[in-house]
Amino acid sequence: MHPIGIFDSGYGGLTVFRAIAARLPGYDYLYLGDNGRAPYGNRSFETVYHYTLECMEWFFKMGCPLVIVACNTASAKALRTIQQRDLPLIAPDRRVLGVIRPTAEVIGNYTHTGSVGVLGTKGTVSSGSYKLEINRFFPDVQVHQMACPMWVPLIENGEYLSDGADYFVQKYLDKLFTAAPDIDTILLACTHYPLLMDKIKKYLPAGVQVVAQGEIVADSLADYLHRHPEMESRITRQGNRRFYTTDDTTDFDNHATAFFGQRVRSERLTTGS
Ligand code: DGL
Repeated sequence: MHPIGIFDSGYGGLTVFRAIAARLPGYDYLYLGDNGRAPYGNRSFETVYHYTLECMEWFFKMGCPLVIVACNTASAKALRTIQQRDLPLIAPDRRVLGVIRPTAEVIGNYTHTGSVGVLGTKGTVSSGSYKLEINRFFPDVQVHQMACPMWVPLIENGEYLSDGADYFVQKYLDKLFTAAPDIDTILLACTHYPLLMDKIKKYLPAGVQVVAQGEIVADSLADYLHRHPEMESRITRQGNRRFYTTDDTTDFDNHATAFFGQRVRSERLTTGS
């Protein structure tokens, strides 16, 4: 098997994998959620980098020619170093792609006011990666970021449909729109946030659209494979999907349905640290 690897700190990347599997169903896939060390959102650069690199090495050992880092925090804090410094040394024939660049490439096309709100973890926001990448493709777009540190815990604890979640959804959105009332497009720059979609829509000012990343990343991957036939031909196509977690498999399987849209049966991976 030479599957496409899909990595996240935990369950969240399953929202991205769901869109990829729908768009490109024929390939083999290997998913890893580092639940044992999640969440990554508040961790330092060094820690996120160390964890992410360790997981990339596992994907390479498992035979993946291509890995998608379907985690915004890891894409923001670790991806560039892995692509530029580590890959040439440890696996020059493999590729690792993230979720920030493909999103930044298109998000400017959604806005009419030229003002975009980016919602993410503390780590993603403090890295400044979205602002940098969006302005690389759309120099005139104003990027207003808001860290929403309570959203991932609400989702991970199964509280995303509860009345209690409304308070924190409204709190961060109000703060963002008070600072930048001309925003007409909101980007969910965290893999978990699509689960809060209904509540987010409830508290947005009229006429503001919400963009989730799954389909954007899936389209970008399809385009990448089309442009890189030498990589595409290395990926096996038997429709296999394997799921690994670094924590309890029953817990992973119970949570996964909400993120992936169907039941999964995961296997346990024990990491070195
Ligand atoms: N997957 C992470 C992201 O997209 C959110 C969860 C975490 O903090 O680990 O940023």
